[in-house]
Amino acid sequence: MNHISDWEKASAQAVLPRHLGIIMDGNGRWAKKRGLPRTAGHTAGAANFKKITRYCASIGIPYLTVYAFSTENWKRPSDEIQALMGIFKQYLEEALRDFLNENIRVRFIGDVSVFEGNLRELITRTEEVSADKTGMVLNIAMNYGGRAELTHAVRLLAEQVKQSSLLPEQITEEMISQHLYTAGQPDPDLILRPSGEYRISNFLLWQSAYAEYIIMDKLWPDFTTNDLDSALWEFSNRNRRFGGI
Ligand code: IPE
Ligand code: IPE
Ligand code: MG
Repeated sequence: MNHISDWEKASAQAVLPRHLGIIMDGNGRWAKKRGLPRTAGHTAGAANFKKITRYCASIGIPYLTVYAFSTENWKRPSDEIQALMGIFKQYLEEALRDFLNENIRVRFIGDVSVFEGNLRELITRTEEVSADKTGMVLNIAMNYGGRAELTHAVRLLAEQVKQSSLLPEQITEEMISQHLYTAGQPDPDLILRPSGEYRISNFLLWQSAYAEYIIMDKLWPDFTTNDLDSALWEFSNRNRRFGGI
């Protein structure tokens, strides 16, 4: 049996994550290595995002969450932020034009109310137009932070307590999950971080309690479908115990 068919056989037996998270990191370093402005890295990163997203949908991953812009990324210079907003708009315009032919449901997680009107409108339209898709759910995390998400959930629950519809001792883990942006979705099984950084950077803090992590020493624009395959293969060989034995 040759190598390819071994691999095909192996991947057919692999356990796919139900929910995959990707921290799309390393765009700036990718550009710097090439003597280009950081924004060129973001453009290359956005192109790769489209490729990897389609691939995830094609192999049958049910939920994919990508980290596109964190609540802390506002600390960056305003010209970089402006460039990122331009890239987001361009992506969504393209998505509304052709990406929606694909069977992918796009949702946004994070506080998107702060974005300027035109971008907000594109976000709303993309969610509306793809709402009845039955394939992969794609969560795009924009102005997302795990702590901000938990703070938002706590406020919603506190409001119910204030209105006497809930007692503090009635608050359950399940209720907290149901007040996060990812309500109703399974927790991530696998979180990938290209760019070689060993940190979570405020991504899916509550939901990742038992996620497997794979850190890869590749910058996001260089991350390929083969890299994803090898991460999925590693994941499927991990022994997940969830606190048991
Ligand atoms: C990730 O790439 C994109 C965003 C955070 C918006 P970076 O811009 O963080 O790239 P590095 O980490 O500086 O290389
Ligand atoms: C995490 O990357 C956020 C996104 C990829 C959108 P960062 O580049 O912001 O994270 P740190 O600053 O290295 O922790
Ligand atoms: Mg970074």
